[in-house]
Amino acid sequence: LKYFKQKCALIKNYLLPEQIIGKLNEIQHFQFNSNDCICASFPKSGTTLIQEIVYLIQTNFDYESAKKIDISERFAFIEWPTVKLQKLTQNQQRFFKTHLPPTFFNESFTKAKIVYVYRNPKDVTVSLFHFLRSINIELTYSGPWNEFVRSFLIDEVYYAPWWKHVNDYYAMNETICCISYEDLLRDFRGSVRRLAKYLGKEKELTEEQLDKLEKWCSFDSMKNNPKVNYDWFKDWGFVKKSFSFLRKGQIGDWLNHFDVQQSKEYDQMVSTRLSPLVPRFNYGI
Ligand code: PPS
Repeated sequence: LKYFKQKCALIKNYLLPEQIIGKLNEIQHFQFNSNDCICASFPKSGTTLIQEIVYLIQTNFDYESAKKIDISERFAFIEWPTVKLQKLTQNQQRFFKTHLPPTFFNESFTKAKIVYVYRNPKDVTVSLFHFLRSINIELTYSGPWNEFVRSFLIDEVYYAPWWKHVNDYYAMNETICCISYEDLLRDFRGSVRRLAKYLGKEKELTEEQLDKLEKWCSFDSMKNNPKVNYDWFKDWGFVKKSFSFLRKGQIGDWLNHFDVQQSKEYDQMVSTRLSPLVPRFNYGI
């Protein structure tokens, strides 16, 4: 791919970065069970936010461990090369993060509680562009904005096609919980109540717990929380020092990046490619 450092391969109609391909066979055989919780998403769709919410609800609001342990240790990032799946034992509460679509898992995937977070593709593109330009590792993108938009539209970014990713998870909508980033930001409490119900935890979710969770998961709070803000990426030399994982956290930052034609092409993609099952996006205008 032009301007993308990492080579990719098209597997099961998804474009995957080379570094995760060696792990796909192991993933295909990995056994999930009914105690497992999986936060799935296309990159830059609100994964970290939903992870923190899911973790707290599922642990009956264990803020003590959330304060102590990095989110990347609390959740196993399934396809990341250094994550050792075989070390995870079956009889403990396990949390997973993945950007892989369902087709890369076996039937046991649906035994787990799956929470899929999705976000309007224009803001995903903006967030992904800034992220990939800031990282120093082999996933980096070095091209200009216009080329990045073009790549997204022709399904040439990691984990693309975005629309197929959303469609494939939405096809499981009856058994998984799909939540949009926009709903989370606009109606945190309503979204969290729905999520808690899906997790079977609605009784534990008191008004006080909702208040506390809403404050804990606000953009400013998470941006300053060293256990979720990925500042450790800087220490590892993973990202530039100026990098902020929680960059803007807004709906509609695309308005500062897209021109009229690009915006029209995204609208066209949404109307022609996205399944009718997926609620249409209000782009934040
Ligand atoms: S990743 O790397 O795919 O796991 O990234 P992901 O967490 O999916 O997406 C990062 C974007 O989510 C925003 N974010 C938040 N927004 C609002 N409130 C909270 N608490 C929050 N936490 C993360 C983050 O700022 C990234 O979006 P942008 O638009 O780049 O700011």
